Amino acid sequence: MRRLSRRKALSLVKELDAFPKVPDSYMETSASGGTVSLLAFGVMAVLAVLEFFVYRDTWMKYDYEVDKDFSSKMRINIDITVAMKCQHVGADILDLAETMIMSNGLKYEPVIFELSPQQRLWHRTLLVIQKGLGEQHSLQDVLYKTVHKGAPTTLPLREGASLEPLSACRIHGHIYVNKVAGNFHITVGKPIQHPRGHAHIAAFVSHQTYNFSHRIDLLSFGEEVPGVIHPLDGTQKTTPNNNQMFQYFITVVPTKLHTYKISADTHQFAVTEREREIDHAAGSHGVAGIFVKYDTSALMVTVREQHMPLGQFLVRLCGIVGGVFSTTGMLHRFVGTCVDVVCCRFKLGVYKPTEVREAQAGQQQNDHLPPLDLRPGEEARG
Ligand SMILES: *[C@@H]1O[C@H](CO)[C@@H](O)[C@H](O)[C@H]1NC(C)=O
Repeated sequence: MRRLSRRKALSLVKELDAFPKVPDSYMETSASGGTVSLLAFGVMAVLAVLEFFVYRDTWMKYDYEVDKDFSSKMRINIDITVAMKCQHVGADILDLAETMIMSNGLKYEPVIFELSPQQRLWHRTLLVIQKGLGEQHSLQDVLYKTVHKGAPTTLPLREGASLEPLSACRIHGHIYVNKVAGNFHITVGKPIQHPRGHAHIAAFVSHQTYNFSHRIDLLSFGEEVPGVIHPLDGTQKTTPNNNQMFQYFITVVPTKLHTYKISADTHQFAVTEREREIDHAAGSHGVAGIFVKYDTSALMVTVREQHMPLGQFLVRLCGIVGGVFSTTGMLHRFVGTCVDVVCCRFKLGVYKPTEVREAQAGQQQNDHLPPLDLRPGEEARG
């Protein structure tokens, strides 16, 4: 009884066979079929190779969500050179809560404002990239992808000694601030904290020495990612006025970056800039200096490098192979039918009537009939 059901199951499976074996002699091969097969294999190979390149390629996916992390500190990286002596300028941050954040992390270094030829070359390259970034956003993707540790993202050191006086001041370093709006500024005099707020001691600095011409080599928020260029990097502003006020209004967008090479919590930002001369007589009030007002966005961007999963790649390969195979087969048959019809209609060339072909096929079948051909029913009975 069990043997019977097993045989039945076997025969059922046999009937489900989608790949019946046909003896070679039943198959008719032709030169046209061979050519079509060769073509099909060629197309398959080309498509498969192209698909492999798509599989190897990666792209950036941007996701947006509300930033719920308000407690953590944000880091500001600064590297600004001002055309004034270090003892005359001071930098600090005042945040929305009017608390002054001591800028202990900042170093003041006397330098020469003019760039050396090699530094100028680097600066010009930076400006070219900056211009490209403004016109074409996908460049940012490339930059994200190619980031690697140790990339030269800072101004190269001045080569050789110079006799010029060190009349400028490079202010560089980083500061941690609360994630609320704030104001980073560089102005005359060192900052001091007093009970009613904060002030800069500027009593002994002559107005003639004021010069807030500056160059921003780096201004970024969050973790520093080497190789990423920020919107203000490379900005250089010179002014013939002593009392000039430069303002930068920045909206910082927290950005989580996950590429195959690097994972970082960084921040992108958008900036608008303004500058005007302070002239109290003309009604333009204010304080000369460089003011960077920043605010954080409530939206957070996650940038992820992605590529096609292996499974999808395999499915697409199967699609290519099967699709090309059946499509060329159909085309071949269709063209063959058309040729047959045309030949039959207009009696062009030699045309073999179908009955003759069938008769030939029948003979062949008899020759190759297997000696024992038990049909499923008989098998079960025996
Ligand atoms: C400030 O310094 C820059 C660069 O050295 C110079 O071009 C500019 O004329 C100076 N401005 C003033 C007011 O001295």
